Amino acid sequence: MGILSALSRLPRPTRAVTVLTAAALALAGCGGSSLNQSGGGQSGGDVKVGLLLPLSGVYAPLGQEMRAGFQLYLDQHGGKLGGRTIKVVTADEGGGPQTGVPAGQKLVTQDQATVVVGVVNSATALGLRDFFDESKKLLVIANAGADAITGARKSDYIWRTSFSNGAVAATLGPEVAKEVKGKVYLIAPDYAAGKEMVAGFRKSFEAAGGEVAGEKFTPFGTTQDFQPYLSTIRGSGAKAVWSFYSGAEAVGFVKQYKEFGLAGKTPLYGPGFLTEGGVLDAQGRDAIKVKTSLHYSTELDNPRNKEFVAAYRAKVGKPPTVFSVQAYDAAAVLDKALAKASDTSAPELVKALNGIGPIDSPRGQWSFGADHNVRQQYYLREVKSSGGTFVNAITGELG
Ligand code: PHB
Repeated sequence: MGILSALSRLPRPTRAVTVLTAAALALAGCGGSSLNQSGGGQSGGDVKVGLLLPLSGVYAPLGQEMRAGFQLYLDQHGGKLGGRTIKVVTADEGGGPQTGVPAGQKLVTQDQATVVVGVVNSATALGLRDFFDESKKLLVIANAGADAITGARKSDYIWRTSFSNGAVAATLGPEVAKEVKGKVYLIAPDYAAGKEMVAGFRKSFEAAGGEVAGEKFTPFGTTQDFQPYLSTIRGSGAKAVWSFYSGAEAVGFVKQYKEFGLAGKTPLYGPGFLTEGGVLDAQGRDAIKVKTSLHYSTELDNPRNKEFVAAYRAKVGKPPTVFSVQAYDAAAVLDKALAKASDTSAPELVKALNGIGPIDSPRGQWSFGADHNVRQQYYLREVKSSGGTFVNAITGELG
């Protein structure tokens, strides 16, 4: 099928992104596989890593935490990964694919990055998928959980050190079904990750006998006043609420949940992003008793995590988060892959990634599945006060 007729069959947003992909590849003077043959223009022993992180928008705090995590690993390893000196170039993912897709393409085509690490937003990851797949350049996703990236639209060149939306949300379903006597209301932002998180939770929750009182998707990145939605939730008679929000939206939702008088009466659950790191600092006491599922907490009791938390605190001045760990682990993965690969071309790095084995992470040991997604343990967490601050205490392990 010709490129134009293939494009005309795609839905409009995908088509726009694919046109951008083709244009970016053309600008770089190469179509498809020719980009990789020079190893991305790399010479000598140095490797350029492109960090694609939100430095603006509702997810900006996550970007800072990921940058700090990646940098900590580099600092602990003399600025080298796999024995090669790393040069980091950063681009702003912004609030979504409109900014994130061109920024990711620029890291490859203009900055000549050997590998791009980062991507917080699922819609950005989906928008970049064809570019990395077609140009055969390596992308290590250190957050965005879009299910298809390691599912139906898996690529040899895309790997993920974080989670998939469906999985992180689904782990809490049976627990909520067991704990809540009555219906549960589901609420999340209206974009790819919100939709997938709700679907993942709903499936495992209903399979365990849970009943849904209602479901709402709020405009993503622009909702500041949650009162109308909280009012609907109260009117629904729900006995509990499950919600996915992250970054600035998580701060607003949890604080307003308390102000509206729901906290303490209607238990709040969600994926752990709801109460993570800087978000929890801003929520403070308002987040007490919120229960979440996640693959990390500063409170994990293992020597690797204790050492990591101490090193991160010493360098950054605050505790790490799941986002810092996912980026720290992306550096660890590249360290192993670059050490194993015979050169820095993407096909050689992919070959190395296919056999790197378990990663000894602050979150506990994890490994890549055949789908390039993380196989890991999920935990049940509850916000508690501890020594004048608030933490996500581990209260159990989730299947
Ligand atoms: C996503 O868009 O995939 C996403 C964003 C923020 C999170 C988790 C997932 O905290």
